[in-house]
Amino acid sequence: MNRIFSGVQPTGNLHLGNYLGAIKNWVGMQNDYECIYCIVDLHAITVAQDPVELLANTREVTAGLIAAGIDPERSIIFNQSQVASHAELAWLFNCITPLGWLNRMTQFKEKAGKKRDNAVLGLYAYPVLMAADILLYRATHVPVGEDQKQHLELSRDIAGAFNRLYDQEYFPLPEPLILGEAKRVMSLRDGRAKMSKSEASENSRINLTDDAETIQRKIRRAKTDSEPGMSLDAENRPEAANLLGIYAALNDESVEVVAARFTGKGFAEFKLELADLAAAKLKPIAAEMRRLMASTDHIDDILKKGGARAAAMAEPNLAEIKKIIGLLDP
Ligand code: TYM
Repeated sequence: MNRIFSGVQPTGNLHLGNYLGAIKNWVGMQNDYECIYCIVDLHAITVAQDPVELLANTREVTAGLIAAGIDPERSIIFNQSQVASHAELAWLFNCITPLGWLNRMTQFKEKAGKKRDNAVLGLYAYPVLMAADILLYRATHVPVGEDQKQHLELSRDIAGAFNRLYDQEYFPLPEPLILGEAKRVMSLRDGRAKMSKSEASENSRINLTDDAETIQRKIRRAKTDSEPGMSLDAENRPEAANLLGIYAALNDESVEVVAARFTGKGFAEFKLELADLAAAKLKPIAAEMRRLMASTDHIDDILKKGGARAAAMAEPNLAEIKKIIGLLDP
């Protein structure tokens, strides 16, 4: 059976990058795969978090996934810290992951910045915990945005290292699924920077909870260039290509079809249509999120049930992994 695992950090508002790069794809996969979706709170604390906000964000991201169409009956939705096996397997993997592999991780280099000695060990080991998330369930496919590609390659390397070390095909090598027309949604303020929760300017991203007016304002102000018309040329006209990609992904069309439709039209007209489209697509999600957020008990209950289902899958696997390693579990 093909099994999907993917995760999202509860570190602030879900934005259009999370939605188009990942969550929107997760929804459709529920028809074809057994799906496990995880709110990765242990990953979130690799950078400082306010405890009250972390808790609120965990619930909000859960509401966002459900509002976007993840069905907690069909799929498993839970927060990572509930299932202790994730952290335990991460330790086991820490013991077989060469530092050289981690030193290549661009996300660590970006996040740690120049003050590398001040970066915490958890941030460095972040991709090892990610490998543990996926491999704990022996997941076969991992739908993510393009920015997670390198981390997934590391997960495959760790799976391969374990299999070789213990001379068996225990872990499948998980396949990344990087899908859709918005694999890497860029900032609205800079077509060469990823849309991200950590960028200071709110105008750089559209949040799933933004109302129509806010969406219109952000898109109106989105950076463009001085060339006439729209373009698919991400290299030379990244802002134009990014807006086209967002439109195409939101409307389930190819970028070529959208580009053809807007041939000869300027940014002003395109932006008006994009803003209307984004507002129409996000409005029901935001409304459902608000409805769900009104009952935190209900959200907590979904996470608890999801956690129990996840643990029931994870624990026998971890017991088997420990046995392979030679750890006594009488
Ligand atoms: P996170 O929380 O940064 O992002 C969640 C998902 O959203 C995608 N994404 C984007 N896609 C396109 N354009 C963007 N601008 C953009 N920004 C974010 C991410 O690629 C991701 O799919 N390390 C992961 C969480 C994680 C995980 C895992 C994922 C933990 N364990 C196991 C898969 C499997 C992360 O930081 O996601």
